[in-house]
This record gives sequence, structure tokens and C-alpha cells, in this order.
Amino acid sequence: MALIEVHAATKDYWDGKTVVHALQGIDLAVEPGEFIAIAGPSGSGKTTLLNLVGGLDDVTYGQLILGGQDLATLRPNTLSQLRLYDIGFIFQAYNLIPVLNAEENVAFTMLLQEVPVHERKRRAIDMLQRVGLGDVIHRKPAALSGGQQQRVAVARAIVTHPKVVLADEPTANLDSETGARLLEMMKQLNEEEQKTFIFSTYDPMVMEYAQRLVLLKDGCIISDEKRAS
Ligand SMILES: Nc1ncnc2c1ncn2[C@@H]1O[C@H](COP(=O)(O)OP(=O)(O)O)[C@@H](O)[C@H]1O
Ligand SMILES: [Mg+2]
Repeated sequence: MALIEVHAATKDYWDGKTVVHALQGIDLAVEPGEFIAIAGPSGSGKTTLLNLVGGLDDVTYGQLILGGQDLATLRPNTLSQLRLYDIGFIFQAYNLIPVLNAEENVAFTMLLQEVPVHERKRRAIDMLQRVGLGDVIHRKPAALSGGQQQRVAVARAIVTHPKVVLADEPTANLDSETGARLLEMMKQLNEEEQKTFIFSTYDPMVMEYAQRLVLLKDGCIISDEKRAS
């Protein structure tokens, strides 16, 4: 069974005057362990698609099935549990909590999951060491570089062992070398733990890392190819 199935998904936004057809009939099946780039120019629908897959927004028409469950049929509470336990999010602007240090940011989702405090601490420190931030765990986001902040965000997204990690243009605010290192780290986590990653980008360098490349244009998939690794 596919981990994620998107069937004929469309998304319309109503901006008060006109309808924007952000996605126009998307079909996509994602198997566990894939490392997928959703690529396409600005406005092509990348963020909209990731938001639908992550249950942050709902389809206008069509179906989104995650782990065999149709998201449209879930009660709000079940959907938020699914977001909390099954999905890790990484955003372009890192979205760390400014008043919390790196360790506390990584531990935060586990706090919501009511993981006991000593286990939260142990897993957060462990994860920060794995992403190469073992010596800055007590720093707040403002005292970290962009690349370091995004590594904290990656650690936060995967420390809870979600079924899939969704990353919306994770390297957009990073210089190309820092972006490359971030992708290498994500790829390594993908290979070591068969963790499924779906990331969006319009940077050709970042697309190079993908094991499967899905190209979006004007809300449609115009190509979907597996690549030699
Ligand atoms: N909340 C919204 N209200 C109205 N239009 C939106 C909204 N979000 C996105 N759009 C429009 O939907 C289209 C796809 O946007 P988006 O998914 O953000 O693309 P991308 O992430 O590839 O840049 C664009 O035309 C965008 O302007
Ligand atoms: Mg976007």
C-alpha cells in the first residue's frame, strides 16, 4: 500500500474577486522510503500540494489518502493527532520558537505528545548531535546561523519518527553550500532510516539530490520521473 495517495486533487482559492486554480487534478502515489522533490516555478502549486499532503488544508475536489485513511473523513481531533504523530514539517523560514533554545525547540513536539521530560531531553540532545549541532544545544535561534536553524528544524521534524517529512523549500534562505549540506543530511537520514521525505524546490542543485522528481507547472504535474542514484 502506498504511504500517500493523491487522487485527482484540485485546489481552488477564492481571493474575494476571482478563483485561483492552484492545483488542477493531481495524481501522485508515494511509497515509504522515497526521497521526492516537488519542483516548479513560483506559483506552480508546490506549497499548496505539501499543505494538502500534510493535512494543513483540504482539497476542493479529489482525495488525499494517508496511511490508508481518507483525510476528508477524519474528525478534526483525529486529523490533528495524525499531524502531530505522522508528519514532520520543515518550512522555508525555519519557524523555530524564538524564546526556546535549540534543545527545547527540538523537544517541543514531544512535549505536545506528552513524552516524559527526561526522554524528551535525551532524544532532543541525541538528534541535535546527529545533525552536527551537539555544541550549540543551549543557543536560541537568533544566535544560530540560517543553516544551523534549518538543521534544528530538521531535527525537530524527525525526532518524533513521523511517517513522512514535508519540507517546503527548505534551502530557499540558505547559500548554496549550506543548502547542499542540508540536503546531504536529509538524504543520509532517508537512507539510514528509510524515512520518507517530500521537499519542494525550484533550485536545480537541490533537485539533483532527489531520487524522484515531480515537476509542477500551473497546478499540473508535467513530469514524474525516478532518477538513477
Ligand atoms: N491563500 C491563498 N489565496 C489565494 N490564492 C492563493 C493562496 N495560496 C496560494 N495561492 C495561489 O495559488 C497558486 C499556487 O500557489 P503556491 O502553492 O503557493 O505555489 P508555489 O509554492 O509553487 O509558489 C498561486 O497562483 C498563488 O498565488
Ligand atoms: Mg511555495
